[in-house]
Amino acid sequence: MIENIFSMEGKVCVITGGSTGLGSYMAQGFLEAGASRVYITARSEEKLLTKAKELSGIAKGECIPITGDLSSIEGVDALAGSLREKEKCIDVLVNNAGIGTGGPFSELKPETWDITMDLNVKSPVFLTQKLRDLLGVNATATDPSRVIFIASVAASYSIEGVLAYSTSKNAVEHVVPTLALALCEENILVNAVSPGRFFSEMTRGAWQDSEAERYQAELKRIPAHRYGDMEDIAGVAIMLCSRAGSYFTGEVLNLDGGHRLRH
Ligand SMILES: NC(=O)c1ccc[n+]([C@@H]2O[C@H](COP(=O)([O-])OP(=O)(O)OC[C@H]3O[C@@H](n4cnc5c(N)ncnc54)[C@H](OP(=O)(O)O)[C@@H]3O)[C@@H](O)[C@H]2O)c1
Repeated sequence: MIENIFSMEGKVCVITGGSTGLGSYMAQGFLEAGASRVYITARSEEKLLTKAKELSGIAKGECIPITGDLSSIEGVDALAGSLREKEKCIDVLVNNAGIGTGGPFSELKPETWDITMDLNVKSPVFLTQKLRDLLGVNATATDPSRVIFIASVAASYSIEGVLAYSTSKNAVEHVVPTLALALCEENILVNAVSPGRFFSEMTRGAWQDSEAERYQAELKRIPAHRYGDMEDIAGVAIMLCSRAGSYFTGEVLNLDGGHRLRH
């Protein structure tokens, strides 16, 4: 029993924003843990197709790309519609696609505020609502379905430069326990992971020059003295979505090497 406690054998999973970064790391982890099908989504078709092809070759399961923009409700509807045509049941939804915005408060534009809130908060909430019935089909008290939201260590920042982003991620952390209660009767567990600094496209500017003074200072400041890697996020996502994590709901897991303790 313990031997298979992290298995995702047979699971059908959806990860928004899976062409690069954290989404692609979780997709790889789910497939290596035995998932049957992992749908990944993104706007840029070329990158998405390349990633899906690469990930389909690493294990028995298939990685299936669905192109689309989730920054509007029309995009959310389109994704839910495509998934409904392909699947009768979904076991795991990871609301990962997000945008990182920043800059001085004096330059913050209403459009930037809106796109940050739309992609980071509104779309994940409504995608969860639209996939609720598919998530409930096979879910039982002992083998529940899972929804993971990707928040951020920035949820706890009071830094002017990331006002919109940190507010959106704080909202995500608030949404999670509320949705956990809303969906508990359908045996759907809802949790959040709040990552610290990870290697991804979003953070490329901060780490691509590994000798840069700013990057080195950041590593010094993070208690774990490193950025997060594929295994760090995949490990926690697999735990949350396998038997191992089936008694967690409404929880926010800080996955930041201690970053929030000294940011
Ligand atoms: N990296 C970190 O250090 C870190 C820390 C804390 C939280 N996070 C969170 O982790 C999540 C993933 O970010 P990441 O760092 O892995 O960034 P990333 O490498 O830039 O990946 C973002 C993914 O989302 C997709 N995406 C972006 N905008 C989209 C849209 N409008 N519609 C559909 N898909 C869209 C991207 O593909 P396209 O651009 O082709 O659409 C890509 O697949 C985000 O929610 C982010 O806030 C990241």
